[in-house]
Amino acid sequence: MSPSAQMTAIVQHSFGAPEVLTLSQAARPVPLPTEVLVRVHASGVNPVDWQTRAGSGVAWALGEPPFTLGWDVSGTVEEVGFGVTTLAPGDEVYGMPWFPRAAGGYAEFVTAPSRQFARKPRSITHEQAAAVPLAALTAWQSLIDTAHVQPGQRVLIHAAAGGVGHFAVQIAKHLGAHVIGTARSARHDWLAGLGADQLIDYTTVAFEDVLTGADAGARARVDVVLDLAGDGRDNTSTRSLAVLRPGGLLIAVPGGVSPELAAAADAAGVRATPFLVEPDGTALTRIAELIDAGTIRVEVEEVYPLAEAARAHARGQANRTRGKLVLRVAS
Ligand SMILES: NC(=O)c1ccc[n+]([C@@H]2O[C@H](COP(=O)([O-])OP(=O)(O)OC[C@H]3O[C@@H](n4cnc5c(N)ncnc54)[C@H](OP(=O)(O)O)[C@@H]3O)[C@@H](O)[C@H]2O)c1
Repeated sequence: MSPSAQMTAIVQHSFGAPEVLTLSQAARPVPLPTEVLVRVHASGVNPVDWQTRAGSGVAWALGEPPFTLGWDVSGTVEEVGFGVTTLAPGDEVYGMPWFPRAAGGYAEFVTAPSRQFARKPRSITHEQAAAVPLAALTAWQSLIDTAHVQPGQRVLIHAAAGGVGHFAVQIAKHLGAHVIGTARSARHDWLAGLGADQLIDYTTVAFEDVLTGADAGARARVDVVLDLAGDGRDNTSTRSLAVLRPGGLLIAVPGGVSPELAAAADAAGVRATPFLVEPDGTALTRIAELIDAGTIRVEVEEVYPLAEAARAHARGQANRTRGKLVLRVAS
């Protein structure tokens, strides 16, 4: 193989702890018709990355290692395959291609269908742009495509300070909703600045007591719960059923809807749905417009060199990230 057909990538040869992520040489991908080859400048890190690294997450889609993790990328189009008319070499793009199949985003190059990318927001860096796709698409597709949030509706967002949560607060606010978030109190001022109307410190009070207690009144019930914590964390999905108005919707993002949760939702007269994010270049174009207009801000807690992907995973899986973690791929 010629030297130009090689690239640097993070490869793992087994499931396991962050240390299985190793800087290696891998074959540079070649775009098929309708695909683009993107030179990656930065790659976003998401919980599904460390979950899959350890053998859960979407390991069912990737199969056995070796493989390269990573879905969020921001970079420059290097080459276009036959038939691509909307992008050209030199265009700056961002995206979350292929999910839940492997995209190999922790690498110098990725290939994917051109329409799974969008033009990168002009007003932010590649490192910031790489923090956007998976988390912002999750917020967008759940609040807009799934819940059809309307002005004046009350939306409760659990884990509001995380990658998805901080976009969800801003998107719900943009939709005209009354936004309630759960987060530890150290995050409250920042989240209020992003548009949250009411914040509940989940470490000191039970959110359902705040929203259904004697002082709260019937009007405190919410139309939509976007649960980014799940039943795996403090039984959050099941406890959320009590705060929904009759017919209200729980979107159970991390854990999905177990038969027990479905039965409890039925008994409570509310709806519950699982959710899995999908590639969506059209939504990313709209999100880029909102970022460039200053309506949506991106919070990057820390940027790591690609070689330190293991350190980024260790930080992320501690579950205390404010906003996002990103890998710098090109120097
Ligand atoms: N199904 C899908 O398509 C999909 C898509 C995206 C994400 N997800 C899943 O959704 C979850 C959130 O993703 P993410 O990227 O936003 O994660 P993240 O950025 O790692 O979330 C970290 C945040 O979670 C908060 N948190 C932890 N436990 C909490 C609790 N019990 N109640 C409220 N907040 C809590 C922490 O807030 P404090 O600092 O305030 O403690 C921290 O800021 C993950 O499990 C991820 O795998 C699923």
